[in-house]
Amino acid sequence: MSIKLAVIPVAGRGTRLIPLTKSLPKEMLPVGRKPVVQYVVEELNRCGLERLLFITGPTKIAIENYFDLDTELIDHLRQTGKEELLEELAFEKADLQYFYTRQRRQLGLGHAILCAESFIGQESFVVALGDTILGVHSKSRIVERMIAEFEAREADAVIAFEEVPRRDVSRYGIASPVTLENPEVFPLADIVEKPSPEEAPSCLAVASRYVFRPEIFSYLKVTRPGKNGEIQLTDAIAAMLADGKKVYGVRVAASEHRFDIGNFQSYFNAFLEFAMTDPDYGKGVREKLEELSQRLSSDENL
Ligand code: G1P
Repeated sequence: MSIKLAVIPVAGRGTRLIPLTKSLPKEMLPVGRKPVVQYVVEELNRCGLERLLFITGPTKIAIENYFDLDTELIDHLRQTGKEELLEELAFEKADLQYFYTRQRRQLGLGHAILCAESFIGQESFVVALGDTILGVHSKSRIVERMIAEFEAREADAVIAFEEVPRRDVSRYGIASPVTLENPEVFPLADIVEKPSPEEAPSCLAVASRYVFRPEIFSYLKVTRPGKNGEIQLTDAIAAMLADGKKVYGVRVAASEHRFDIGNFQSYFNAFLEFAMTDPDYGKGVREKLEELSQRLSSDENL
């Protein structure tokens, strides 16, 4: 597979998760045993990516520390006979190179991607939002499929989509497909950022993974602030489509369901599902939940 570079934007402040995110990056919040961003990195590693550029911001330094090779900790575990814990740090040894740059002003996702321009050069690249896990324990291979479609169709961009309830469309970029003749891979006519349920051309929501050619930068550079006053990646993609570029959607499989860590409800739900399916502790968590559900259902104060 020829695409080896991924850009991972992690600069957003996570205001919907305050106070948790006051000094902790939302991408470092635990979901089950690991922080969110580790799942994202493991997914990309499995899909053949080798170089990862994080677009960071204030309060995000913990992410850089996390992916360092911690030889001191490794030595300590060895010396104290805790070799079995070394397995938990195996991700440090993955064949990946990490790079970091700062988005110095919070001007939106499109602007965050634009910060990668000089690093990217002439290569096509993946964008993976750092606050979204695809599939329980991040088992998704959608990025691999997206790269294959990108190459086979000589596309200008490929985007992951997941069907959402119509009442939720105003939280996402929404596809306007040319046709859904093939519901798994479909050409786009247009894309719109956070439309109202009445305006939405479909219920297919951008699911946090993209593949681009470097030409996206020339569109981002002339993209004016859009929804919420931010420079939107979706608007740059819409401008590409208006220019007749070939953009395809690839649908997320049911098993690759998107876990968004953007608000407390979705964060709690994600944590529960990962804890309940943990290979060692899942059974205990499920038993506890059942007991709690019974106890709390008879509590009239809830
Ligand atoms: C961003 C994108 C949106 C996309 C969403 C989830 O929105 O702008 O198009 O659907 O991520 O992938 P945000 O959640 O940052 O508001």
